Amino acid sequence: MVQRETWATRTGFILAAVGSAVGLGNIWRFPFVTGEGGGAAFLFVYLLFIALVGFPAILAEFVVGRKTKRNPVGALKEYGGGIWTYVGGIFIVTGFVILSYYSVVAGWFIRYTLEGFRGSYAARIAAYEGDPEIMFGALSTGLDAFVLHTVFMALTVGIVALGIRQGIELAVKVMVPAIILLLLGLAVWAFTLPGSGGGYAYYLSPDFGAITENWAELLPAAAGQAFFTLSLGMGVMITYASYLGEDRNLASDGTAIIGFDTGIAFLTGLVVFPIMWAGDMTDPGEGGAGEIFVALTQAFAEVTGGQFLGLLFFATVSLAALSSAISLLEVVTSYVIDEKGIERWQAAVGMGGVIYLLGVPVTYDLIFLDLLDLFADAILLVFGALMLTILVGWIAPKAAIDELEKGIGPLDGLGQAWIWAIRVPILIVLVISLYLGVVDYVEFLTGPFAEWIDANL
Ligand code: TRP
Repeated sequence: MVQRETWATRTGFILAAVGSAVGLGNIWRFPFVTGEGGGAAFLFVYLLFIALVGFPAILAEFVVGRKTKRNPVGALKEYGGGIWTYVGGIFIVTGFVILSYYSVVAGWFIRYTLEGFRGSYAARIAAYEGDPEIMFGALSTGLDAFVLHTVFMALTVGIVALGIRQGIELAVKVMVPAIILLLLGLAVWAFTLPGSGGGYAYYLSPDFGAITENWAELLPAAAGQAFFTLSLGMGVMITYASYLGEDRNLASDGTAIIGFDTGIAFLTGLVVFPIMWAGDMTDPGEGGAGEIFVALTQAFAEVTGGQFLGLLFFATVSLAALSSAISLLEVVTSYVIDEKGIERWQAAVGMGGVIYLLGVPVTYDLIFLDLLDLFADAILLVFGALMLTILVGWIAPKAAIDELEKGIGPLDGLGQAWIWAIRVPILIVLVISLYLGVVDYVEFLTGPFAEWIDANL
């Protein structure tokens, strides 16, 4: 048997995992779900969820991956037994659904990069009646969106088909620092804008009354966003940890990954909300999927060197999206290679092709974005995390603790505390989140989606 590959260095694994985690979830999704959740109230619930659920859950995926050294479907089967294969099957479906629309949104970032080559962002906005919202409306659906969805998916398939790992590590090494620097610069600039103060209040000072009142909406939204942004709930971290040596401290690796990811999302909020308030846009819930594009093109239209900075920013985010998309397609592809025994390039092209087709309706109307995104985040990912919780907490807790202790040393009470956190409180939170997520989704299907169908068919 061939020796299974392992990561050469500690940074190799962390870079790949950070590359998967940091993506559109941080830059595109985080600010608009925060806006829909009312700002600081959402941020508070989200941060709590990351710390209390996200951290134990990422450890659970690491442990299952490193112990079994298999793709997610094989890993679950080995760790839990035959019926767990079906749960693995759901992971694969989740990958399909997420990547299908992820690619369309990534295409928008490429589109906005290209805009920067055509002229200043001020001039580009002027070409759309001077309104960045009209600009977003024009670029986010139709032929442009379709073509760039095609381009992005082709790139993702190409990289996965060729199996280029080194390329990914290198890209992440450049990309993550670049994103942090750009966001820091923008955050400082936003701070100097007149009128931006309201944005900070909105983003940073939670109204606890609003939290208790709206918890039924906040909880599933925070759960979905937390798993989405950390690439949890569908086996990405199982796969990455399956290449990991036993001497590694999983807890400190998990902390580093979560730290980078959460830091970047938080920083994005410090850019977006002050800019919106300075521009007199004080209802971020309205912006939806276009929020970041509208706020930032406005900013790049005004700031000195905005054309260059904007181009750089949109291009970097496109790269970050690519490193995340690769992780999604890699899970699906490695499963097909391992279990069906077909060649890597055939698997990547075949699966990528089906995913691509599933994303096409999104380029026609954004209602399909909600249809896929809500289903994936609020239902599939939460379900996946719940299953892992049951697996690690109830079915094989002893093996999990043993695995976690490799590379750390005896954990004594801490290992037990981790298992008990997963067994009861986290399990309950996930069941409630899932239930609320299903309720929200049914409301969406019978409300906005049914109306759209009536109006359009
Ligand atoms: N975490 C990535 C982001 O924030 C998206 C992503 C990549 C993902 N792989 C995933 C989300 C697996 C859920 C599951 O953009």
